Amino acid sequence: MTLNLEVWEDKNDLYSRAEELFSAQLKNGATTFGLATGGTMIPLYEKLRNSSLDFSHCKSVNLDEYVGIPQGHPESYYTFMQHHLFEAKPFKATYIPNGVAEDVHAEALRYEDLLKSLTVDMQLLGVGVNGHIGFNEPGTSFHSETDVVELTVSTRSANARYFDTIDEVPKQAITMGIASIMRAKCILLIAVGEEKRTAIKALLRGDVTEDIPVTRLCNHPNVIVLTDLKMN
Ligand code: GLP
Repeated sequence: MTLNLEVWEDKNDLYSRAEELFSAQLKNGATTFGLATGGTMIPLYEKLRNSSLDFSHCKSVNLDEYVGIPQGHPESYYTFMQHHLFEAKPFKATYIPNGVAEDVHAEALRYEDLLKSLTVDMQLLGVGVNGHIGFNEPGTSFHSETDVVELTVSTRSANARYFDTIDEVPKQAITMGIASIMRAKCILLIAVGEEKRTAIKALLRGDVTEDIPVTRLCNHPNVIVLTDLKMN
């Protein structure tokens, strides 16, 4: 397993390190970044916005999008990305699944084809409390590609903080599959906060199981994990 763990107890240092990894990728000629949403990414995108890094020749592909809420909805991942990154740091092209496509299954297939036409130099990942990556919930096949998925109660409750009531949290999403994610040349996983300890411990234990999707990363040749959690 080629998993590089870096523990940064100071969150500001952790996010500076993440920014540095983006900078190093650009210097090495990276042109395609896989991006992620979630509270974990907000301080990173703030750093990128305030940096002198230039992504205007790069492409981005996002991991996932809710089904059923339009792009302009305040909690769509489209809006999240515009607000936290793209308005300040334009990319040559940005891709995110269309969660209100007439046929969401066809949209998932289209997105997977798009991914296959690209080479993702670095994929940014957060992790759910239950170990999900993208919106690939526990039990998802490691062979999964981009698809329409049902969200678990655990994930909908965790994300309910962004909506007025839990009933407003979408029940489905379009997400890159685990196999789609694994094609990236390098993966940068960021896990901040005590509630992510169980997932990160499982990853570091190295017991690869579909019950904890993040453990699949043990089989990837180039993963960097940044966390504020001291591991013992
Ligand atoms: C959502 C996203 C994931 C993200 C996870 C954790 O479910 N689909 O990509 O990693 O939430 O979010 P947070 O960073 O807010 O804890």
